[in-house]
Amino acid sequence: MKKLRQVNIPLKDMPHQWYNILPDLPVPLPPPKDPDEGPSRLASLPKLMIGECLKQEASQERWIDIPEELIDIYAQAGRPRPLFRALNLEKKLDTPARLYYKSEFFSPTGSHKANTALAQCYYAKKQGFERVTTETGAGQWGTALAYGSAVVGLKCTVFWVRSVYNWKQDRRRFMELLGAEVFASPSPKTESGKKIWEKNHEHVGSLGIAISEGLEDSMRDPKAVYCLGSVLNHVLMHQTIIGLETQKQFKIFDDYPDIVISCFGGGSNFGGFALPFVGDVLTKGKKIKFIAAQSEVAKNLQGEYRFNFADYAEYTPLLKMYTLGHKIEMKPIWGDGLRYHGASPIISLLRDKGYINTIAYPADERYVFEKAQLFTQVEGWLPAPESAYSVACAIDEALKCKESGEKKVIAFNISGHGFLDMPGYEKVLGLK
Ligand SMILES: Cc1ncc(COP(=O)(O)O)c(C=O)c1O
Repeated sequence: MKKLRQVNIPLKDMPHQWYNILPDLPVPLPPPKDPDEGPSRLASLPKLMIGECLKQEASQERWIDIPEELIDIYAQAGRPRPLFRALNLEKKLDTPARLYYKSEFFSPTGSHKANTALAQCYYAKKQGFERVTTETGAGQWGTALAYGSAVVGLKCTVFWVRSVYNWKQDRRRFMELLGAEVFASPSPKTESGKKIWEKNHEHVGSLGIAISEGLEDSMRDPKAVYCLGSVLNHVLMHQTIIGLETQKQFKIFDDYPDIVISCFGGGSNFGGFALPFVGDVLTKGKKIKFIAAQSEVAKNLQGEYRFNFADYAEYTPLLKMYTLGHKIEMKPIWGDGLRYHGASPIISLLRDKGYINTIAYPADERYVFEKAQLFTQVEGWLPAPESAYSVACAIDEALKCKESGEKKVIAFNISGHGFLDMPGYEKVLGLK
């Protein structure tokens, strides 16, 4: 029989609820807490966060309804997105494994980040805010929030890690075209940014610093609210639409994954893709190996499991997470969306309990870009630099199957496209 290359589901079958894994976790998630010294960060959360998102953050409801208006907005943004069988790649690798990839690169802004950006902007507008503020690393989250703001009618301010701001000029123009104002971080616009910027105007920045700037900017303006694109429970929950669609699509393929892979910075695309399958492991006795693909420069899942701040200037409460420490300096990489000091508390707990494996790829990124190039040559889709880590890890696992002769089913998420990331490919692969 002819093998299916691609499966999608009709709009009416798009999930109408997000999956909240909190009630299914093997032990309760340690709640955020205040540090021993200084003002209470927990007390300031209702001022810092969108009310509905704060409620979702600690909800024990397994299924949370996606508002009908938001379903409409998701549809306009091109959901559901297809699940592909990588038949060409299987052939090229000569592997007995069956490879499947989810296509978050079909997003209007280029990545999965739109799934939570649209939700957060929708709730912010409903609550009466006029502006959203945020940080961005790769620029994908900043663009997604700029897009969400434009769609629902909000202003948007983005603090962008300088090392990336400097080279992704087209993406900066895209955010501006959507109506956002964009600053290189650390910037002189905020007290926390200024302290670092004054010592070094060309400081490369970090997500931790940019988060502090976004938070500070929103704290000064009662009409503004801060939005985060990763790490937090509600962000991962909004992203579960990826994995929930994938489960329906696997049913149509009449298959089921043995290995689930995605790249990992703070955990939003990995969590969104993997958590519905983790739910199957926790509640239905399924056996799946989960692998989070990271960079050597930011292998937070190999750090310490402890309470730590989520930002550089210590405005956030302490979260229990795998961390490299919130003041750590990490070398810039082309896949800069993976350069964050801490891992999502949910994924951290699951890793601590032995459910999540991880691999860190070399800092020069040649290995992952070569694998992404191979993928593009046979499958035709150009992965974002971050997604190149998912591709590399999936290829590694497929080659292990070639050695062992095992017919494993490998599912990976391509979190974004690389159309605005060509300088990274050019430099790493030496394209002329
Ligand atoms: C395309 C893409 N994939 C993955 C990531 C990593 O973030 P997360 O770990 O939250 O999925 C980013 C972050 O900017 C990104 O832009």
